[in-house]
Amino acid sequence: MRGSVGVIVGETSPLQFKFMIHGAVGRGDYVKVRGDGRSWILAQVEEIRRSNTAYSLAHMERGCTQTCREWVVADARVIGVPSDGRIRSPAMPPRPGEEVFAADEKMIAAALGLSKGDMYIGILKGHDLRVELDANTLVQKHCSVLAKTGSGKSYTAAVILEELLDKGVALLVIDTHGEYGSMRYPNRDGDFNRFRVKPKGYNITVYTPANLAINPRADRPFRFDGLNLSARDIARMLPDDPTNGSVALLYEAIAALRSERESYDLEDIIKQVEKANSKSKWTLIGQLEQLLEMGLFSGEPTRPEELLQRGHASVIDMTGVPQEMQPMIVAKLLTDLFEARKLGRVCPGMVVIEEAHNYIPERGTGRAASTSIIRTIAAEGRKFGMGLMIISQRPARVDKNVLSQCNTQIIMRVTNPNDLKALSKGLEGMSTELEEEIKRLPPGTAMIVSNEIERPIVVNIRPRRSKHGGVSTPIVMTDHPVKGPVPRREPQKGPGLFLRKVLGPRGA
Ligand SMILES: Nc1ncnc2c1ncn2[C@@H]1O[C@H](COP(=O)(O)OP(=O)(O)OP(=O)(O)O)[C@@H](O)[C@H]1O
Ligand SMILES: [Mg+2]
Repeated sequence: MRGSVGVIVGETSPLQFKFMIHGAVGRGDYVKVRGDGRSWILAQVEEIRRSNTAYSLAHMERGCTQTCREWVVADARVIGVPSDGRIRSPAMPPRPGEEVFAADEKMIAAALGLSKGDMYIGILKGHDLRVELDANTLVQKHCSVLAKTGSGKSYTAAVILEELLDKGVALLVIDTHGEYGSMRYPNRDGDFNRFRVKPKGYNITVYTPANLAINPRADRPFRFDGLNLSARDIARMLPDDPTNGSVALLYEAIAALRSERESYDLEDIIKQVEKANSKSKWTLIGQLEQLLEMGLFSGEPTRPEELLQRGHASVIDMTGVPQEMQPMIVAKLLTDLFEARKLGRVCPGMVVIEEAHNYIPERGTGRAASTSIIRTIAAEGRKFGMGLMIISQRPARVDKNVLSQCNTQIIMRVTNPNDLKALSKGLEGMSTELEEEIKRLPPGTAMIVSNEIERPIVVNIRPRRSKHGGVSTPIVMTDHPVKGPVPRREPQKGPGLFLRKVLGPRGA
């Protein structure tokens, strides 16, 4: 028959069949065959094998010298029979001898549910078919972007954020490496014609929890309200789990302050704890001083209403903030924000967490003050209109409780066996073929697994509209070899670099 790419051979089932290839078809391609009742069955080519009778072992052993006959056989997995915008499993397997055809784009889009959404993220690999995800589902039911370093996680995350901003969604980004501020500028570099995308800049405000001297790219300092903090507020920010003794000391100190005066700040709390008659007070005092030294509690506090605004992204740029302090800041920031959301004081929105293994480490790989609130948002956020996007290069090191709540999974290249195992555990219907596919995904290509899409699909992510901020800094300079001894730097006077970085001008 004209236009067919193969013919079904051997035994078939409602789930899979083999076909001998005689036309243009490749691994991952979508094909269709007639089922009983003449309706089309859609299937996908999972594997292709080539063999030759003249070179089979049995044949060679027998010393036969027949003319060669080459076979190219494809394994196809049935997706289903599309009808009325839904897809159903065929009741009967397709017949051996039936012709196999390349599936048309309209059928693929309808069967997989690719054009039901309103967020354009790329083109189905091997086709000219736009992949559009549903923005509401992605935000409400959370999303994860997982891949090894340099595979395009931040780039893809930003593509999604652009679409959400265009829909007026409010975003808060925990930006560990200062990559998202560049979203305010239009992109100059991309295959805009093929993907039909126009460059554009977005409405972004970058906040620094350090200070503007350390992070001049930031627009504003990020500060907490340092007045009348409760013991719970502070306990949440202390590293790891504070001991019961520390928490008791905090409660006592704050109760004493409240009985004496109308308002107090962190310095007053430290002075009050110093009065306590307990040996364990020094650990607590050390931790409180660390918080005070950051200057996070002095100056004009950043209001939750300011952080979540429709069609705007607030980027908390952690550049210059000591790593051990970052989860503490995220813990209080998200607790305050989620409380404000529950009370209806801020609009619904999405929280994006880059390098999530630092903020929600899997049990046994570390502890972080931010784990508890992120788990709460993952479990309850949908009810209150707060979504999560979790980005990480180490899926095995991210809290499984949170990852399992992400309904849309965007997976790019992963090769580490532990990370692959973690992905397989979290994904329904993960097969060895899919695992192999994930290991081979080229940069800028993602596998998307979602309840809204019938099967995992592979997508060429569209170019960004806004400028990408994640850069790879060359380490080996081929054009500037260093000649002679490296000049010694003058020793610096005053406080060490670490303290200067952390302290900065307080309240800047
Ligand atoms: N869809 C894409 N189109 C074009 N270029 C891309 C695409 N995705 C990624 N890239 C390129 O790949 C590089 C690495 O991407 P990105 O910074 O997003 O990686 P990453 O996975 O976030 O890495 P890291 O783990 O270091 O944070 C980028 O500099 C970008 O140029
Ligand atoms: Mg990145």
